Amino acid sequence: MQYQGGTAPSTATGQASLSLIDGRTGQSYSLSIQEGAIRAAELRNIKVSEDDFGLMSYDPAFANTAACRSAITYIDGDRSVLDYRGYPIEQIAEHATHLEVACLLLKGELPAAAQLQQFIAEVTAAGAPPDGVRKLFEAMNPLVHPMAMLMAGLAALGGEFPKSAQVENPEQRWSDILRLLAYTPILAGWAYRRRLGLPFVEPDPALSYAGNILRMLKGEAGKPYRPDPKLERALDVLLILHADHEQNCSTSTVRGVGSSRVDPYSAVAAGVAALYGPLHGGANQAVLEMLEEVGSVANVAAFVQSCKDGHRRLMGFGHRVYKSYDPRAAIITRLAEQVFEVTGQNPKIRIARELEKIALNDPYFIKRKLYPNVDFYSGCIYEAMGFDVKMFTVFFALGRMCGWLAHWDEMIRDPEQKIARPRQIYTGPARRDYVRLEQR
Ligand code: ACO
Repeated sequence: MQYQGGTAPSTATGQASLSLIDGRTGQSYSLSIQEGAIRAAELRNIKVSEDDFGLMSYDPAFANTAACRSAITYIDGDRSVLDYRGYPIEQIAEHATHLEVACLLLKGELPAAAQLQQFIAEVTAAGAPPDGVRKLFEAMNPLVHPMAMLMAGLAALGGEFPKSAQVENPEQRWSDILRLLAYTPILAGWAYRRRLGLPFVEPDPALSYAGNILRMLKGEAGKPYRPDPKLERALDVLLILHADHEQNCSTSTVRGVGSSRVDPYSAVAAGVAALYGPLHGGANQAVLEMLEEVGSVANVAAFVQSCKDGHRRLMGFGHRVYKSYDPRAAIITRLAEQVFEVTGQNPKIRIARELEKIALNDPYFIKRKLYPNVDFYSGCIYEAMGFDVKMFTVFFALGRMCGWLAHWDEMIRDPEQKIARPRQIYTGPARRDYVRLEQR
């Protein structure tokens, strides 16, 4: 984490070192400290004998392991700081558009007006997914979860564009990045409308990125669609808030899968799979289901007690990195008010606010530093906008796509990166002889 704000994360190496004595041998070692980290590979020099493998670090769930150096997003979870390429999320969410943020994440700098226009034109020019993928959606069971449809659609795209296997070629990478930015909202629209048995709606190049998402979900095929400007902006802000979050579960999945040099469509399909889970992006759906189950403000205290008793988790609360308020949740709380001015208040918001109030004042949550995360209120907004709860995580994926792609591209360009391959501590039986079936 290291960087405390102000300038881009430093690439300079310090002279610091860590001295340690191996209690098993009495041997002393000096490990270099660079950017607040020791190099885990240097631990391998610490051995009890010549043929010893060397020391490893054991870190389940990578809770304290930096697997890459990245210049994309900075988080300080203790101070509620989230910066994209050095820009505070609060400023970005107030002033930028989603495609501007995508350009920032992918290229490293805010685009000038002409550069942004060109980027938007390039995304638009990428067109629509091939017919084969459309047929796949038409053939899918309408009851299938839209995240499963999205995953299948993205994986199928990799097969449709075999040149995407040329991941070392920067021009090829860029054209696949543009396609993924253009196609993912179309796949989301197909998933949504397939579930409802409605004809698919084509994008309108005159509309914004968020406006087109609303059109492809809520519009009518062949007819013009005018999104409500407040809802269009609210959706754009939600996409911005979800655009990147450094080495979270889905992004590290995209990096890990992409490190095998598979095509980016397959890598982001794996990212969608990771995001789908209820402890990650699936939490926004889980929050709404939880609010539904709580039912009324009167039941909140008993529900919070059941979370404290360990029977369940308060969904939308807690975060691996934020040990203070998630800055995105603070922005979403204000955004919800603006959306409710258009849609009318979502009755579940009263239950959510009561849950938040009780939890934030309860020693169980205070001691564990559990605060609302980005997903606590986003579902209430999507529901007020009239979307099926199963679509919520798809919206998350739509926002996160540019972050996944920025990390994938950074990983491919990073000469220090290799195929991801963690070590393990073997805990199984010692070697033994095979016992024939008839003798067992
Ligand atoms: N409700 C109740 N207790 C919780 C919650 C919660 N939501 N989250 C953590 N805790 C408790 C744990 O039981 C544990 O208590 P203990 O020390 O008595 O055993 C302690 O807090 C620490 O929890 P961990 O599971 O170790 O924290 P971790 O960093 O591994 O988990 C996570 C983070 C997965 C986000 C967790 O807080 C959680 O499950 N939250 C609910 C799901 C959710 O909202 N996920 C979305 C995350 S944001 C995102 O992905 C976009």
